[in-house]
Amino acid sequence: MPNDTTLSPLCLLSDLPTRGSKGVQHDGHNLIVVRQGAQVHVYENRCPHRGIPLEWVPDQFLDNSGRLIQCASHGALFLPESGECIAGPCVGQSLRAFACEVREGGIYLTPTD
Ligand code: FES
Repeated sequence: MPNDTTLSPLCLLSDLPTRGSKGVQHDGHNLIVVRQGAQVHVYENRCPHRGIPLEWVPDQFLDNSGRLIQCASHGALFLPESGECIAGPCVGQSLRAFACEVREGGIYLTPTD
């Protein structure tokens, strides 16, 4: 049985370009939704370096290539598929991932119970 947090979509898949990102407030969480083609990933919007939000410009969480998540404060780069930091001051640490799924064009957190 889905809990309340899974009943409404975080956003629509069509809200995101093929390589894009969006900030979402959901059930008390400050989240990032990242799309890389058909793949969608959700992370807490909290950089493991200083524990602050990643972006300076709303909805802009990717680097210039559109293939890596970037923290605006000190430039840490994270893999979209795992949230692992691969460059910058918190190498080897990871963004907190939230399981998600795409259903009928909406992006939802995956039920955990
Ligand atoms: S706060 Fe993100 S790299 Fe420093």
